[in-house]
Amino acid sequence: MTVSPLHALTSRRSMKFLRAPAPKPDELDQILQAAMSAPDHGKLRPWRFALIRGAAIGRLADRALDAVKRSGDPRMTPEKEKSVRQWMSEVPLFVGLAQKIDHDNPKVPEQEQLLATGASVMNILNAVHMLGYGAFWSTGMGTYVEEVQEALGFDPLDYRFLGFLAIGTPACAMPEAVRPDYREFVTEWTGE
Ligand SMILES: Cc1cc2nc3c(=O)[nH]c(=O)nc-3n(C[C@H](O)[C@H](O)[C@H](O)COP(=O)(O)O)c2cc1C
Repeated sequence: MTVSPLHALTSRRSMKFLRAPAPKPDELDQILQAAMSAPDHGKLRPWRFALIRGAAIGRLADRALDAVKRSGDPRMTPEKEKSVRQWMSEVPLFVGLAQKIDHDNPKVPEQEQLLATGASVMNILNAVHMLGYGAFWSTGMGTYVEEVQEALGFDPLDYRFLGFLAIGTPACAMPEAVRPDYREFVTEWTGE
């Protein structure tokens, strides 16, 4: 039986619990290069990625969780902080995701820049999966706290921060995800 090439796309599922090893350097090159093939109106290349690995992950946990606590977020209880720190300490690679905003582009509205950046992240998710690793897109860890964005080098005046990808080797095997039937989301427009 031949497997459809589309199986590489349809078998992807997010993996939150990840361990070392991360993709090897040449694999990471390929993964990040795949992001460059996203559709991109006006060739603005709005996507930006900050690699966070090794000891920097501990520093990210300290800076992000302290900032979230200072922001007064009631969800950041001591138990939650402990579990986020534990989770982060196991993940070998995080990628901070941002869109560089071109505020005054007459041809490419900002929402199109955001869509191009989202498409580039999707290419990363698929490339990670195709190389046999796992990934998880999270907007936790202080994504919406300005101090965190700034600490990562993404001044909110010029960048829209879009969260983090955790990347590594899945900690356990997961069954294929159950996906909805596309017919629930598709209509045919005939113009009559
Ligand atoms: C922009 C974005 C942000 C997300 N942030 C979170 C998050 O903070 N926490 C979470 O549990 N899932 C988050 N998710 C969802 C997971 O990354 C994942 O897509 C979801 O668990 C479904 O898994 P699937 O990708 O296999 O369908 C986010 C997804 C997107 C697209």
